[in-house]
Amino acid sequence: MPSRILSGIQPTGNLHLGNYLGAIRNWVTLQEEYDCFLFMADLHAVTVPHDPAALAENTLKVAATYIACGIDPARSTIFVQSQLPEHSELAWLFNCITPLNWLERMIQFKEKSVKQGENVSIGLMDYPVLQAADILLYEPDKVPVGEDQKQHLELTRDIAARLNFQFGSEDKPVLKVPEPLIRKAGARVMSLTDGTKKMSKSDPSDQSRIDLTDPPAVITKKIKRAKTDPARGLEFDNPERPECNNLLSLYQLLSDQTQAAVAAECEAMGWGQFKPLLAETTVAALQPIQTKYDELMSDRAYLQQILVEGKEKAQAIAAPTLAKVKTAMGFAQ
Ligand code: ADP
Ligand code: TRP
Repeated sequence: MPSRILSGIQPTGNLHLGNYLGAIRNWVTLQEEYDCFLFMADLHAVTVPHDPAALAENTLKVAATYIACGIDPARSTIFVQSQLPEHSELAWLFNCITPLNWLERMIQFKEKSVKQGENVSIGLMDYPVLQAADILLYEPDKVPVGEDQKQHLELTRDIAARLNFQFGSEDKPVLKVPEPLIRKAGARVMSLTDGTKKMSKSDPSDQSRIDLTDPPAVITKKIKRAKTDPARGLEFDNPERPECNNLLSLYQLLSDQTQAAVAAECEAMGWGQFKPLLAETTVAALQPIQTKYDELMSDRAYLQQILVEGKEKAQAIAAPTLAKVKTAMGFAQ
């Protein structure tokens, strides 16, 4: 059996270059070697106020994006989190063994709860416990995510270890403890308006990110307006020049070159020469993805069929894992 991989993205808004380079593109390579389970985290999408009229459509859009980016539904399992009640049920069981103070420490909760003010939901705080359930149900070997999810993966490992300690024995753990898989390249794509902040769906400024569905003219304009600095020449890894590092890294990843090759090519360039090059490279890299995406979105029946099959394949793994945990915790059979 090949080793198993699991990951997911919330269907909130359009996916951007950070989601592609930090997550989806890695999955595409990993599916050659691993049995991949990839889902739309729609239960996570409702932890902050959401538009019910857009949720189902956004979920379908993310599925289409996965496939357009190169996830092969014949090889990898693509499914919708909320269609498997096992996720919510295991999250409840985990809720009862997770100390509250573990969740109070979560950076993402602290950041997101500030934005919600008085209305912050229990669900937002519980978000990482649901994520632990998402992961542990499939007992994956590795969980490929961007750098921002590292703390949630550590919590997942802690919850698995605690469950094993409380309800398993050393030689017979209840759940497998997974490893995070965080690739350095692309792990943190930064905002186009501030090189010290990550590119994010929730940034109020559209100019801060490049969406995978942005048309060529919009991509070119966003890159033209991207924040830069007055220093001469372009270089990687200068902490004083976060925007320069980010834009060069984007160019490196999207043109599939080594860092050394890009450093040499761009060393003497000014922004006026580099920005059109980056724009052209980005447009060329996204063009085949956009064509495939449009094709898929006009064939809803095909997408729905993939999700039906995905649900079945996912449930075949998730249901027995949940049953195993319930048995270990002593529930009546
Ligand atoms: P966002 O932060 O934009 O709302 P999500 O939280 O839904 O995006 O993230 C989905 C996946 O994309 C995760 O694996 C996350 O680590 C990755 N990801 C999101 N933003 C970035 C980024 N700027 N750089 C690299 N990876 C990212
Ligand atoms: N929290 C993740 C994010 O914002 C999405 C997610 C939910 C996830 N469940 C997961 C990622 C399980 C990996 C594994 O990106």
